[in-house]
Amino acid sequence: MKVAKFIRHTLVRCGGLGKLSCVLVLLVAVSGSFGCSERLSARAEFNHQRLAAVNAYPLEQNLITNIDNRSTVSLNGKWQVIIDPYENGYYDYRYQPTKDGYFKNAKPRDKTDLVEYDFDKSETLNVPGDWNSQQDKLLFYEGTIWYKKSFDYQRKPDRRVFVYFGAANYHSIVYLNGQKLGEHEGGFTPFNFEITKVVHEKDNFLVVKVDNKRRRDAVPTVNTDWWNYGGLTRRVELVEVPETFIRDYFIQLKKGSLKTVAGWIQLDGNKAEQKITVEIPEISVKRAFKSNADGYVKIEFDAELQLWSPENSRLYDVTITSETDSLTDSIGFRSIETKGSKILLNGKPIFLRGICMHEQAPKSNARACSQEHAETLLGWAKEMNCNFVRLAHYPHNEYMPRTADRLGILVWAEIPVYWTILWENEDTLKNALNQLTEMITRDKNRASVILWSMANETPVGKARNVFLRALVKRAKSLDPTRLITAAMEKSYKGANKPVINDPFGRHVDVLGCNEYIGWYEGLPDKCDLYTWSTTYDKPVIISEFGGGALGGFHADKDTRWSEEYQEYLYEEQIKMLEKIPFLAGTSPWILTDFMSPRRPLPQIQDYWNRKGLISDKGEKKKAFYVMQRFYEKLKQAEQ
Ligand code: GCU
Repeated sequence: MKVAKFIRHTLVRCGGLGKLSCVLVLLVAVSGSFGCSERLSARAEFNHQRLAAVNAYPLEQNLITNIDNRSTVSLNGKWQVIIDPYENGYYDYRYQPTKDGYFKNAKPRDKTDLVEYDFDKSETLNVPGDWNSQQDKLLFYEGTIWYKKSFDYQRKPDRRVFVYFGAANYHSIVYLNGQKLGEHEGGFTPFNFEITKVVHEKDNFLVVKVDNKRRRDAVPTVNTDWWNYGGLTRRVELVEVPETFIRDYFIQLKKGSLKTVAGWIQLDGNKAEQKITVEIPEISVKRAFKSNADGYVKIEFDAELQLWSPENSRLYDVTITSETDSLTDSIGFRSIETKGSKILLNGKPIFLRGICMHEQAPKSNARACSQEHAETLLGWAKEMNCNFVRLAHYPHNEYMPRTADRLGILVWAEIPVYWTILWENEDTLKNALNQLTEMITRDKNRASVILWSMANETPVGKARNVFLRALVKRAKSLDPTRLITAAMEKSYKGANKPVINDPFGRHVDVLGCNEYIGWYEGLPDKCDLYTWSTTYDKPVIISEFGGGALGGFHADKDTRWSEEYQEYLYEEQIKMLEKIPFLAGTSPWILTDFMSPRRPLPQIQDYWNRKGLISDKGEKKKAFYVMQRFYEKLKQAEQ
């Protein structure tokens, strides 16, 4: 009805010349708008479905947290392995999964029997550890490797047992004594399977098929600027717990409070309804609660706490005791918020003096995985006067946030939604949601972790925006206390006028922005010409900037790859950054050189990204001291 009235009205207004053409134009416009409103409603429907999908995907998972303070038996060490590029141990010649795969760990029954593999005569690899750096022939290997570990196990009565993996890159299938326990996708987050009913006293064989082949629909997808380290890259433990145990808990300061502790405790087992106490002995706090029929209880209580901060990384032993289990964790309490373009730690503005890191072992072509690695890397950041690190582009091993808790270093944690993943693929979204859930589950009690990053350098677009909004929704439902961010890219509103206006910026608390002015974009002296702006009243972290230098190569400041070029670039960058009024932090790219298959330049890169401020030999480059001095100045200014 309305449309007809509109046409009539327009015709009258057209009056004379070319009634027909007007009518035609109008018809096209209307049908177009029909078309596009159809397209719009289809898009709106798709967006709605995506966001709704978040609720559909299980929030719950059975990840056990705080392994360090539980009764565990380590399975680290040498594991027998079979390198299986054709996945012959999994598929038959018709490429159908076979029931007699290598997970059976079969032995010839007699001299006539045909078995074409033998773990016990096979070579070994160290666990934890990536396979690429352990043998030259495996440096570029992407495919399947089967791991086998034999062990005996005396299970105490009324106890349950789980096998726990700190991480395995990328897709793992886990078997015990020939029985499949389950699968896990994602190379940087922990997972566990219950083995109570499968484990024997003697001669258990745990077999894991690990495959790091890159896939377009995976997270990350096929192209990254870091080495695709494969294997059981982090610790493997047997975790023994009571029949009903404290599986997970969230104990932090309530959002916006400096003295109210809030959170929850989740029991796992038949005896769900239990009396539970939460104790902080050092301040004589002991509170009692009761879990419900799902073994869940919300907790809230006031306490006079010394607040955690980089200057005072105060941690408290917090003990949770139920009728059947008890668990202690070392937890710091701090509040983190934003106000306009400021980040407030414990209610006070703080500037994040940061540096980016990959999980690259110091002075090594291996992936970092140990307490010592964490101490060295975070120690170097401290030496640079940092109070903040961006752990890029995936959740690092648990030693990192726990060491950051102790050393008083604030942490940006991120999932590998990196560059251009398949935004419209349901499984890709499920996978990203799962990695996000596992990351937050593992580190939500770490005071050092203040920022959850949803993504890095992803292309602006509707499907991408909705995908990332689904992640924000999940993150906020899992953890209402921390800030949400992402490393985005700038656009321009004129020459030398970068603006931070990514539409996804609406959905985050803190805007991260990567820029390479003076390296990928012009020369260092261009920095001075730039005037930055943003369309948001939010804090901005310049989450990447920098350039490459081969450690020990010296020349004039205009010679690329020289330490002098990198030093000059940093000096010019700092001049530009200091002029940005809404800047709340910086994290240059990157603390140390790191391995990357995208960097083949001979005698300079040799498959190392050379943007480190510290070389692959652990030597500091000149630019390290430029940042150290800049951060010292900021530190002094804060005193
Ligand atoms: C990108 C990206 C990094 C990459 C860096 C570089 O911005 O986020 O992962 O390594 O630039 O080009 O060195």
